[in-house]
Amino acid sequence: MVGAHWLTLTDVTVRRRGKTLLGPVSFALNGSGLTILMGPNGAGKTTLLRAIHGIERLNDGRIEWHDPQDADGRAQGFVFQQPVLMRRSVLDCIAYPLRLDGQSAVQAREAARAAADEVQLRVNLDQPVFLLSGGEKQKMALARALVRAPRILFLDEPCANLDGHAIIEIEEILNRVRAGGTRILMSTHDQGQARRLADSVLFLHKGQLVEQTEGREFFSTPRTEAGRAFLKGEILL
Ligand SMILES: Nc1ncnc2c1ncn2[C@@H]1O[C@H](COP(=O)(O)OP(=O)(O)O)[C@@H](O)[C@H]1O
Ligand SMILES: [Mg+2]
Repeated sequence: MVGAHWLTLTDVTVRRRGKTLLGPVSFALNGSGLTILMGPNGAGKTTLLRAIHGIERLNDGRIEWHDPQDADGRAQGFVFQQPVLMRRSVLDCIAYPLRLDGQSAVQAREAARAAADEVQLRVNLDQPVFLLSGGEKQKMALARALVRAPRILFLDEPCANLDGHAIIEIEEILNRVRAGGTRILMSTHDQGQARRLADSVLFLHKGQLVEQTEGREFFSTPRTEAGRAFLKGEILL
């Protein structure tokens, strides 16, 4: 029943310089909630998120969206692990995607203010981006990803460099965004965060999808030795 799924990947494979970074992976996802991608460093989480977002060239396989509206890149926001910093004010940085869409500066800035408000970025929005703290930069990146009111939000280890307070704030924002109906795909290697947020889980290891659960059974009853070892905090080779 491929047609019933929100998103279907079939034999998706990414190779670079003779090395297979990802795949072949095949799976389908349903269209609501927050899916966590887990797995050790180098497992292929970033590559998979980028592939689904359409910014990673596939060497094989295909990615199918049930609803063509979801396939449009402008319907998808992406928060990269390292925020992409521009030599602009915070406000113009957030407004940038809308300027690319052809909106006027006034209109785009108004929407950017609303997005900054949505993520509770309480700083002077006219200051240059580089003056922000790590947590503020991550909120700014989130605001920029949300400014087009995306149907889908991708986040690649958004809390990797944040302190506890900033992590709690980001998780609260993600809960609100999810409650608003945005589909979220997020990688993390923070198990606590994964348990707090996951509606479903994809566990990757060595470029392969090793386990997939609808729901949170992965954390209580992993089915594979790799999954069990990962959850116990063992180093996977
Ligand atoms: N541009 C690249 N060229 C070559 N190898 C890469 C490139 N990007 C990532 N890799 C490798 O691809 C594999 C998967 O990486 P990645 O998707 O970043 O994993 P993760 O996000 O789970 O840490 C790793 O072995 C990594 O070293
Ligand atoms: Mg990564």
